[in-house]
Amino acid sequence: MREAVRRPRRFGGAVTPPGDRSISVRAAILNALAEGEARIANYGPGGDCASALSVLRGLGVPVESDGDGFVVAGGAIREPDDVLDAGNSGTVMRLASGLLASQPFLSVLTGDASLRSRPMGRVIAPLREMGADVRGRDGDRLAPLVIRGGALRGIRYRMPVASAQVKSAILLAGLSAEGETVIEQPAMSRDHTERAISAMGADIREEGLTLTLRPSRLRAVDVTVPGDLSSAAFWLVAAVCHPDAEARLLGVGMNPGRTGVLDALNAMGADIAVEHERVVSGEPVADLVARSSRLRATHIAGDLIPRVQDELPVLALAACFAEGETTIADAQELRVKETDRIHTTVGELRRLGADAHETPDGMRIAGGKALLGARANSHGDHRIAMMLGVAGLLAAGETEVEGAEAASVTYPGFWDDLRALAGDGERASARASVPER
Ligand code: S3P
Repeated sequence: MREAVRRPRRFGGAVTPPGDRSISVRAAILNALAEGEARIANYGPGGDCASALSVLRGLGVPVESDGDGFVVAGGAIREPDDVLDAGNSGTVMRLASGLLASQPFLSVLTGDASLRSRPMGRVIAPLREMGADVRGRDGDRLAPLVIRGGALRGIRYRMPVASAQVKSAILLAGLSAEGETVIEQPAMSRDHTERAISAMGADIREEGLTLTLRPSRLRAVDVTVPGDLSSAAFWLVAAVCHPDAEARLLGVGMNPGRTGVLDALNAMGADIAVEHERVVSGEPVADLVARSSRLRATHIAGDLIPRVQDELPVLALAACFAEGETTIADAQELRVKETDRIHTTVGELRRLGADAHETPDGMRIAGGKALLGARANSHGDHRIAMMLGVAGLLAAGETEVEGAEAASVTYPGFWDDLRALAGDGERASARASVPER
C-alpha cells in the first residue's frame, strides 16, 4: 500500500493514541498465567497485540472480545497442537519464551521473516541456565524456537544488554522457579512487567537496577491500557517541527522507561506541555500538548538510549529541523529491531534530501537542510513507515510512502489520524483566515 502525503499549511487537533502495545501484550500474557479472569480495556488494536492473543489461544487460553478490549481467563494453558506464531513482534516471542520455559510440554515459536532474523540467544541463554530446554535455529540464535519447559531454578543474571523484553522473559520464568531470581540491569528500561506482577501479587523487590523475585502465584487483575507514547511520538515531532501547529495527545502512558523521547525533545527546545498527570492501572498517564518550536541539535546516548530507542527514527527526522548537528550514539540495538533502523532511517531520510550519516552505533544528522518530498519505503517496518508519513507532513512537495501498511502492527489508525490532523489544521487555518467584519 502506498500513501501520498503533503505538508498542510496548518497541522493539529486532538488525538487519543491507540492502547499501548507493551502494556497490552503483558496484560494478556500475565493474566493467562494468573488465577481468575481479567478484563483488559483499551487493548492495543495493532498486529503485535493480535499476535499475543493468537499465541495464547494456541495454548488453549480462553480469550473473548469485549467492547474495546478482551477478557482473558487464566490457568488454562496446555500443550499447543500447532506452531505458535508471534508475527512481527519481538516482545511477544521473548515474553512467550519466558512463559513457556516453565510449562511441562513442548512448543514451537515462530514469526515472520523479520522476527526470524532477530537475535533470540539473549533469551535462550538465561532460560537454559534456569533449566529450560530451549533451542533455536542457527546454533541457538534464531527462531523458530523449540521449548520444552519444566521445573526451573532461580538464577542471578547480569544482563549484557538493557532489554525490557529479556528482563520480562526471565521474570516470567522466575515466577515459578525454585528460589530467588535476581536480575542485574546495565541501565533502566521500561518496567511494565515489574509494575504488573507486583499488582498481581508477586513478591518482587527493586533496589537500584537490581530486581529480586521470589516464586509467586499471580492473581488476575483488570487493566485499562493507557495510550501508546511511542505512537504519540509521531505527532509530537510533527507538531514541534511544523511551522504552524498544535497537537493534543490524550491519555498517553508516561512510564519513566519510555519518556526518553520527551527528554530528548525538551533538550532540543521543543514546546511540549504535560497536563492532567494521573495514574491508570498502576501506570503514569498524562495529556501532552505540542506546539511549533525552534529546535536545536542535541546528543542522544548512554542511559537515555533504552528509554528512547523506539523513537529514534522519528527523533532523527526532528533533527533535520534543528539547528546544528545532532548525534545519536550507543544505539547499536537499533540494528536488530524490525529492520536495521540505523540503516533504514538514514537511507530513507537521505532520499528526502537530509544530511544524515550512519555511524556504527548511531547516526549524525545536520539540521537545516530543507526536505523535499520523494518516493520512500518503509522496508516493512512500522516505525519507519510512520516516520516517513510525518516527514511527508514537513517536506516540500509530495512524499510517497511505499509499504505504508506496516504501520498497522502498532497503529492501524495512523494514516486516518494523519489525514485528520492535517485536515483539522487546514480547517482551523481556513476559519482563522476569515476576515472579521
Ligand atoms: C519492548 C522493549 C524494547 C522495545 C520494543 C518493546 C517491550 O525492546 O524496543 O519495541 O515491550 O518490552 P528491548 O527490550 O529488546 O530493548
